[in-house]
Amino acid sequence: MSWRFRNSWHASVCARNLSRHSSSQAQPSAALHFYQNRQLELYAAKEANRLSLRQLVFFGRSMDEEKLIKSANYVRTELPVRIAHRLRDLQALPYVVVTQEGVAQVYELYWSAFEKFRRYPQVTTLEENEAFCEFLESILDEHAPVIPSLSLGLSLSSPHLPPDSLDGFMRRMLVSRISRRVLAEHHLALSKSLGTNSLSLPEDPHVGIIYTALNLKHSIDKCVALLHGRSYDMEDEIGESMPNRGWPEVIVDGHIDTKFSYIREHLEYIIFELLKNAITATGLNHRSSSSIPPIRATIVAGENDVGVRISDQGGGLSSARIKSPSDLFSFSHIRNATRMDDTRLGALRSASSRGVKATVAEQIRPLRTEQSNVNSNNKDPEREAGIAPHPRIGLGLPMSNIFTTYFGGTLELVSLDGWGTDVYVRLPKLGTNLEGIEL
Ligand code: COI
Repeated sequence: MSWRFRNSWHASVCARNLSRHSSSQAQPSAALHFYQNRQLELYAAKEANRLSLRQLVFFGRSMDEEKLIKSANYVRTELPVRIAHRLRDLQALPYVVVTQEGVAQVYELYWSAFEKFRRYPQVTTLEENEAFCEFLESILDEHAPVIPSLSLGLSLSSPHLPPDSLDGFMRRMLVSRISRRVLAEHHLALSKSLGTNSLSLPEDPHVGIIYTALNLKHSIDKCVALLHGRSYDMEDEIGESMPNRGWPEVIVDGHIDTKFSYIREHLEYIIFELLKNAITATGLNHRSSSSIPPIRATIVAGENDVGVRISDQGGGLSSARIKSPSDLFSFSHIRNATRMDDTRLGALRSASSRGVKATVAEQIRPLRTEQSNVNSNNKDPEREAGIAPHPRIGLGLPMSNIFTTYFGGTLELVSLDGWGTDVYVRLPKLGTNLEGIEL
């Protein structure tokens, strides 16, 4: 997109938004837009400074005041670069897409966050870091509706974008969002642990948001227990009461003592979504049988990675509307016809507006409640991952795929149509992979 066009495009989106906010005020001048876009260009020209899990752990160990201030300034200067890349991506969308409900809202949020970070003064003391942490928390809250809003906007735009462009754009937006939230949450958790002098508990050691001896079986058991508590979502889907007919048992086998270093909220989001799908499909497929077959979660600890296979007898994935299991990751209606379903669009609209209106108490923010997190076992993985839970919004699988691949893992679905599905998750366990490149 040319300079001149990008500038007038930005001016028209901003003018539209300005007139929405204040009908009596003058429109911003072209000079202001030119200046703002020049700033954006300067930041967008910088490369993201990608980190590995291991770097995050090493830096966060034995925290002191000097390191914490360094961490604050890294977040302060790195986030506007990553946001600038995404603003450029949004500006490159066709006008008909960016004016869709949801996409324009995200553009405004990102533009405002970019300006706030760019102007934020250097952090030099612990008191200033406290104020910076409050600022970070407020932005994290403000951005709560980003995923349903984007997903809604892109679903409505699906007819205007080729599937590869749409999926590529969504992937970059989502990977980059995860990365920004990881940096912000890690810094908040490090600040909290230094501020309260709280050490991580020996039975659940962690550095910031990274748990250094994460027990995979414990996480699976926790997700099963949480899903039992959230049975209404699945009953809604199945159309009858699961507990009356019995729940499919989840058998965990393989290397059940496996522990590794990972971001717990990411791991548990993935496991929770995959088990939710497996339980729902099994319930549906066996709705008229007298017994329900179990789901098997097999853990394998390899030399470089940790694997989990989740096998169900839910009948498999392919249907007249989904040709290949990998199409379930797609946001395009051409690959995944369910993307334009009215019930899904309605659910996305409500998740998107609920996100905007949600009170602070409603938004459980990961690791800002770090200590209680360690002690409690009943937090909801969807909320913890910064995604408001909502049945039928169809984001569980694509988001699990993005969480899995963020540090170089893989997620594969193998459907044995007419019988069931095997899902293979592989997560690197050495922590040496850098974050995904789309930052
Ligand atoms: C997001 O949640 O979309 C963000 O970009 C948050 C980040 C600015 C802290």
